Amino acid sequence: MAIVFNKSFILTILFYYKIIEVHARGPVYTPPDVERLTDHFKRVSIDESYNVSFGGTNVHVTNNGTNADLSLDKFSGSGLVSKNKYYYGFFNAALKLPAGFTSGVVVAYYLSNANVFPHNHDEIDIELLGHEKRREWVLQTNIYSNGSVSTGREEKFYLWFDPTQSFHDYTILWNNHHIVFLVDNIPVREVIHNNAIYPSKAMSVYTTIWDASKWATHGGKYPVNYKFSPFTVSVKGIEIEGCVLNSKDVAPSCSRSSLSSTDPVDGQQFAKLSAQQINGLGWARRKHMFYSYCQDKNRYKVLPPECNAI
Ligand SMILES: *[C@@H]1O[C@H](CO)[C@@H](O)[C@H](O)[C@H]1NC(C)=O
Ligand SMILES: *[C@@H]1O[C@H](CO)[C@@H](O)[C@H](O)[C@H]1NC(C)=O
Ligand SMILES: *[C@@H]1O[C@H](CO)[C@@H](O)[C@H](O)[C@H]1NC(C)=O
Repeated sequence: MAIVFNKSFILTILFYYKIIEVHARGPVYTPPDVERLTDHFKRVSIDESYNVSFGGTNVHVTNNGTNADLSLDKFSGSGLVSKNKYYYGFFNAALKLPAGFTSGVVVAYYLSNANVFPHNHDEIDIELLGHEKRREWVLQTNIYSNGSVSTGREEKFYLWFDPTQSFHDYTILWNNHHIVFLVDNIPVREVIHNNAIYPSKAMSVYTTIWDASKWATHGGKYPVNYKFSPFTVSVKGIEIEGCVLNSKDVAPSCSRSSLSSTDPVDGQQFAKLSAQQINGLGWARRKHMFYSYCQDKNRYKVLPPECNAI
């Protein structure tokens, strides 16, 4: 018996295929409305806020100091470091990630004091991991406190937009109440102040691009392919506001501009998530998170203590 597909049957199949394909790519996801934490503070220029930290020849400041292009090529990655160290604050960068084959490439936006405290450093990380397939950048968040590097506290998310097509805001809020990671103002992770894992020493802010072939993509299965280099991340829209460490003091102390209710350290909007933000957080975690260390029982026979609270 011959199987005969008529035209409308084939069109129907194509129609459903299209729907599935669009879903798989993600643009159908519209995030819920949330209030904006970005734009309370002035967006400062790269020149005002940052120095080159490494790979100076691969750092190109453009647009009269407001933008920077950071590249990774076969000779070097590159990075920026904040001029000041911060003891709490609100840190935002708008990033446009390299398109195309970016396996093994990592763009990191993070706070760290590893250069000052090599054995008991603190770190709050947003890492964007290039992937072997086009468009599938992965967002990873992580926290280390006081050198607790034996326990990784990673969570991983797919993004609900194509991060290579335009700039998107990536934010770290860190204050006495909580740490919140946000993407385009949608909170994706909140860590309530918990001494066990809470960073407690002043940190610098870094924006970097580097070769993580051995680390990021399936244990080096898909290393960086320099045939497609340079890989360039564009940076702009820096907001960097909080307690600036007074470097001359022995005990930690900081100077703040008087910011009243929009103080990222003590201001109400920054002390706890609103109902709308909690809704956004739930949406991001339900729909887009695909890994949390708190669910990784292969890795942790006994889950870290804060996992019970999540
Ligand atoms: C470039 O930046 C400088 C210093 O921030 C400023 O004084 C100047 O007006 C800017 N020029 C343009 C064309 O925006
Ligand atoms: C940034 O650069 C300025 C000027 O070169 C230098 O004085 C300062 O120490 C640098 N700061 C950091 C944190 O690298
Ligand atoms: C952090 O680590 C240092 C050195 O390892 C230790 O002396 C200190 O007590 C630790 N602090 C906290 C808050 O755990």
